[in-house]
Amino acid sequence: MSKKTILTGIRPTGNLHFGHLFGAVGNWVLLQNDYETFIEIADVQALTDHFEDPEMVQKNVWELTIDLLAIGIDPKKAHIFLQSSISEIAELTVFYSNLVTIARLYRNPTVKTEIAQKKSLFGQEGESVTYGFVGYPVSQAADITALDGDLIPVGEDQLPLIEQCREIVRKFNHIYGVTLKEPEPLLSSNPRIKGLDGQTKMGKSLGNAIYLKDDEEMIQKKIMNAITDPSKIKKDDPANPEICMVYYYHKLIDNPNLKTVCSECKEGKRGCVACKKELITRMNEFLEKFREKRQYYEEHKEEVKQILEEGTKEAKKKASDTLSRVKQAMKINYF
Ligand code: TRP
Repeated sequence: MSKKTILTGIRPTGNLHFGHLFGAVGNWVLLQNDYETFIEIADVQALTDHFEDPEMVQKNVWELTIDLLAIGIDPKKAHIFLQSSISEIAELTVFYSNLVTIARLYRNPTVKTEIAQKKSLFGQEGESVTYGFVGYPVSQAADITALDGDLIPVGEDQLPLIEQCREIVRKFNHIYGVTLKEPEPLLSSNPRIKGLDGQTKMGKSLGNAIYLKDDEEMIQKKIMNAITDPSKIKKDDPANPEICMVYYYHKLIDNPNLKTVCSECKEGKRGCVACKKELITRMNEFLEKFREKRQYYEEHKEEVKQILEEGTKEAKKKASDTLSRVKQAMKINYF
């Protein structure tokens, strides 16, 4: 039996952080061993929000590709590809757009949340919500179906987009005959990673993320500012590690000294500054391998470009095959 295909994507709007590594993106590193894996750098989707900042998107295409390689995505196993280089995806988007009502797009919970965020940032909705933005679930359905994805490994926030893709597939197959595959989401069991400030989510826009790219100085600064048990005033006050973000990160990176950290904290035998210093050292050790790989790819940009180019070539083959089937089904295959 041939391997099932995994298709997933990520917008190039920033570097990878711990929320990615311990969440869906980290899971891709494991999945690439068992599935035919395609990872899309969704630059066209990033432009729906950032069309005024093409330099930022371009810069992050490279940053993100390097980050993915540095966390262990292996180009021999997974194809990393660039959305904007697959014109078939754009064509499919146009065809699928007939199968989706505007009302349904507005009801998509992910789109709804994002519109609410835009409103609070820019005031009036009409000023900030573009046609391209409201339609991005259609374009994402094109990503998924172009590559014939069986399984879509994503975080929970993406479920409404996959559901919408499934609806488009069903409608397409109903009208034009069975042509497209209905994908299934694949959720990782990892819980959400909390931010350094104790917020339940780590995110770029929340300003509470630890990036895999952070250097030693940055790690020191961020950990020194992390939130600890607020009831602990003096160095030898006993405290509750379960509400301390420093302890949370000791645990996350699997500090072998964790039991001692915990008991000393509870017994008031460990000051927060010493505890943070230990975390800084261990965090830098944890990041060492990543930093080395990252540096290698920074110094071998041609290789990165080649990896992206080859991944895109593979993706293009599949997408072109899907597009022919779609055009045939839609009776627009004239020549
Ligand atoms: N919407 C995803 C995000 O914001 C990125 C993405 C684009 C994606 N195309 C995809 C995810 C296809 C899964 C499948 O992170």
